[in-house]
This record gives sequence, structure tokens and C-alpha cells, in this order.
Amino acid sequence: MDQFVINGGSPLEGEVTVSGAKNAVLPILAATVLGDGQSVINNVPKLHDVKVMKEVLENLGAKVQDDSEQIMIDTSTVNCCEIPENLMRKMRATVFLMGPLVARFGKVKISQPGGCSIGPRPIDLHLKGLEALGVEFKQRHGALEGTVDQLVGAEIHLDFPSVGATENIMMAATKAEGETLIYNAAKEPEIIDLQNYLNRLGASIRGAGTNVIKVKGVQELQAVEYQVIPDRIEAGTFLVAAAITKGNVIIKDVIPEHIEPVIAKLNEAGIEMKVEHNQIEVIGKEDWKGINIKTLPYPGLPTDMQAQLMTFLSLAEDTSIITENIFENRLSHADELRRMGAKIRIEGNTAIVNGVDKLYGTNVRATDLRAGAALVLAGLAAEGETIIENIYHIDRGYEYLEDKLSNLGADIIRKSDFSSED
Ligand code: UD1
Repeated sequence: MDQFVINGGSPLEGEVTVSGAKNAVLPILAATVLGDGQSVINNVPKLHDVKVMKEVLENLGAKVQDDSEQIMIDTSTVNCCEIPENLMRKMRATVFLMGPLVARFGKVKISQPGGCSIGPRPIDLHLKGLEALGVEFKQRHGALEGTVDQLVGAEIHLDFPSVGATENIMMAATKAEGETLIYNAAKEPEIIDLQNYLNRLGASIRGAGTNVIKVKGVQELQAVEYQVIPDRIEAGTFLVAAAITKGNVIIKDVIPEHIEPVIAKLNEAGIEMKVEHNQIEVIGKEDWKGINIKTLPYPGLPTDMQAQLMTFLSLAEDTSIITENIFENRLSHADELRRMGAKIRIEGNTAIVNGVDKLYGTNVRATDLRAGAALVLAGLAAEGETIIENIYHIDRGYEYLEDKLSNLGADIIRKSDFSSED
């Protein structure tokens, strides 16, 4: 298994360009099932999760061609609707295919996605939403089968503004008879991107970005060409990388409004940034203050930036309190950061971080995607050598991470020849 070996201490300097958003491209790729003809999706990041989504689409019968950051997908050859268990297990985002498959075939068969290292992650809200549109679900031999003759629009009130459930319901409702209203919908930028994509296909959706989304069902959707938005979490990770190494970095291809809460929190800690319409320059400082953060649904601080900010705050001047409100078990990176010298105490879903002067390189293990990113940041700032294991988690969500960081002057290499039995 691959490892990252990082020799910390160099301030990052230069320019870096953000790739397409993982969390936007995954539902959009799933939604290509809805459009007749060949879809062309641009600004697609080369990520493990994207590879798995392509594999799943191919397994369903789609023809997929891949050229640099462009994917061409013809889903007219998809013949039906079963996602094998081995592919479901590879990536949770395969659940995004439920909505498009029931909309197109009136049928879907998946295995129940398991929990993952950041918590149990149920799909009850996805199922309740699809049931409201008329889908009947049955559990058979560990598989979940959904069937419907004709989807019919409905009023759906989500108990929690789940990103994935909002997206699945939107995709299914595009072809339902009549109107669907999703109340307490998630407001993330990726929901707006999905709405824009679906509307380009010919769907009639309004309200993404607010907490009520209205979908008027249509009969036909046609494949189109579409450009995915930049990844706000990758952008946020580079903001922290620049700040934590006391460097000076211009991050390009950013939509600053998408990471407004991250910018606000770094500002509160004392980091100087020049925000322009599609780029942000971070001007590093020797010291920064401890701050309190709470993760919340958008436009609150994203849970996907919590781990990276924990690393940053472990080097702040005083104490910070971090409250994780979205996932049940998303503070495990604290254990690894402690191994590098951080002083962090966990109480329930709260981390109390007492700033230290230095982190020290050692052997650590990525426990999930963003926890892995947090360790890379720690390695960049630490004294000495940090070896990060299980970096396949990081490869799920960061394109060319080591190349982008090396171009900014970081001393980071991937060791691929490392063999391990675990
Ligand atoms: C998406 C993002 C993920 C991000 C998360 C929260 C993708 C591919 N992933 O994940 O990076 O961290 O949003 O911003 O877009 N929940 C239920 N029942 C459900 C669905 C969710 O209880 O049916 C709970 C989850 O367990 C979690 C919370 O709702 O505690 C938020 O989950 P959700 O917004 O659905 O996240 P995902 O769509 O899985």
C-alpha cells in the first residue's frame, strides 16, 4: 500500500489550481443515466471515487470514455438497475444511482451500504423520500429492491438537510408525474450544481441553494455537455496548507463564496487573505489564535474541513473548541495528531485543542479521507519526517495532491513499493 513521506518545515510558496469537485461530479455522473444520448462531463478530477463511479456505470451497461479531465458517457446501453454488492462496498456514493435508476426503469436493486469510519451513515432519508414518490422497497437476501410503476410528485419534509438524500430525491423527481417539493433540503453548492446540470438536460427544478426545492416532472431528458464546479474542500485544504506552513500561496479556480465560512474562521484566527473573484491569496503569519468552530450544514462550516482545521488549531496560540455536529464519529484524527505532539482532548462530539509550539514527524495512519488530509497538513508543518499510511483514503478525494504540494515547494513523496499485508 502507498505511503506519503513528508519532510516538514518548508513554507509553501506559489500558485495552485483547484480541481473539479468530487461531491459535485459523483451525483452528476450518476445522473447521466437520466439523459438520452452521450453526456460529456468536463473538469472531472482524477480520483479513486470517480473511477469507482465509472466502473459502476460500466457494470450497468454504459459506455464510458475517459480523456484527461473529460468523461464521455453513453447511458443509452444501460439495461437495468442492479448494483453488485462488491461495487456498493467500494464507495458509498453508489447510492446516488437509486434516484436515476428508479426514474428511468422504475426499478433499482442495491445492497444496503454499510457504515464507515466516520459513523453509521444510514440511508433512511433517501428511502423515505423515494417512497414518498411511490417507490416500494423490499429487503431480500440482504439486498434492497425498489420498484414503482410511475413516480408521482409529492411534498417531502426531510428530518435533516441530508446532501445525498436531497440529491437522490431531486434526480428521481425529474421524471415524476407532477410536482415535488423538498422541504428542509440541503443547500450545499453541489446541490446547485446538480440542479444546473439536470436543468440543462431538460429538467425543471428551482430553489437549489434554498431550503425548498421544487421539481416539475418532465417526460424526456437529453444528454448534454457540462462543466463541474471547483472543489471547495480542496480549496479550503490548500488555504490551511498555506497558513499552517506560514507560506504565501495563490489558490486559483476557487469560488470564494463556497468557502466563506472557512475564510471567516481563518480570518478570525488572524490569517490574512486577499479574496478575489476566482482566487484567494493566503499571506502566512508566524502565529495565529485559537478559535471555536462548529460544523453545520451549508452555509455553516463544512464537516469536511473539520479535521484540517483541527491540525491548524493544534498549532494556535491558545485553546480552541471544535464541535462536530454532522457525523457521529469524526474526531478519530485527534489520536493520530496526538502522536505528533498535539494536545487534544475529546469529550463526546467535542475536541478541546490546546495549542502547542510544534508538531513532530512520526508514523501515522489516515483513518478516512479528510483525516488523511489533516495528517498531510500536520506533516507539512511538523519538524522531521512524517510517514502517512493508508493514503488510499486520501486518493479518494484529492487529485495529484503530492504533485500540487511539491510544486508549492513541499517535500512530499509517494512510496508505492511499500508492501503490507493489512
Ligand atoms: C455528503 C458528502 C460528504 C459530506 C456530507 C456532509 C458526497 C459524496 N458526500 O455526504 O463529503 O461530509 O455530505 O456535508 O456528497 N443521514 C441520515 N439518514 C440519511 C442520510 C443522512 O441519518 O438517509 C445523516 C448522516 O448519518 C449524517 C448526516 O445525516 O449524520 C449528514 O449526512 P448527508 O448530508 O446525507 O451526507 P452525505 O450525503 O452522505
